[in-house]
Amino acid sequence: MSTAPSVELAEPKSEQDWADYYRLRYERLRKPHGQPPGSERDDPAEPSSLHVVAKVDGRVVGAGCWVLGVRSASDPSARRIFARFRQMAVDPDFERRGIGRAITRHVEERSRALGAVEMVGNVRAENVGFMRKQGWVEQGEGITLFGTVESIAMVKGLT
Ligand SMILES: CC(C)(COP(=O)(O)OP(=O)(O)OC[C@H]1O[C@@H](n2cnc3c(N)ncnc32)[C@H](O)[C@@H]1OP(=O)(O)O)[C@@H](O)C(=O)NCCC(=O)NCCS
Repeated sequence: MSTAPSVELAEPKSEQDWADYYRLRYERLRKPHGQPPGSERDDPAEPSSLHVVAKVDGRVVGAGCWVLGVRSASDPSARRIFARFRQMAVDPDFERRGIGRAITRHVEERSRALGAVEMVGNVRAENVGFMRKQGWVEQGEGITLFGTVESIAMVKGLT
């Protein structure tokens, strides 16, 4: 790992932040699979998601979002809040410098503060090792994106 840069994590605020944020999500998660611009934000969970950008020297170099959900149960006291982590992306020029880890920790901490007891996510096969390092464990098969990109369902307890 190279020297850890000083990373600032915050919600995107300015128009430029939002443009850079979605560009990064598009370029890392959709463009390589031949998907059109805009496809990075077409998930039904997008409008209810929370967003974070990672900046180094004011430049957006990382992105991630998450959405809270509730597992229903017949007994209301047994209902559990969970957080689904989606679309983390780090600028290729800034990979392997701890930015993905910082984004993951931020999302976990924010989710815990909002009452979530568990994190869940579909993790692309090549990133399972990364998520394991953050304490996530495999739970089973995840979804297949665009007919080719396989993912593994992973979870992490927050309590
Ligand atoms: C996956 C991704 C977010 C990781 O971000 P990153 O900033 O490079 O990761 P970090 O530097 O914080 O890595 C933290 C640790 O995980 C390791 N790691 C990073 N990527 C890894 C991978 N794909 N597999 C295994 N370990 C990995 C690092 O070496 C580091 O290890 P250390 O704690 O022993 O030093 C980034 O590679 C990325 O944006 N990939 C393309 C988009 C993508 O696939 N997003 C996730 C969809 S599920």
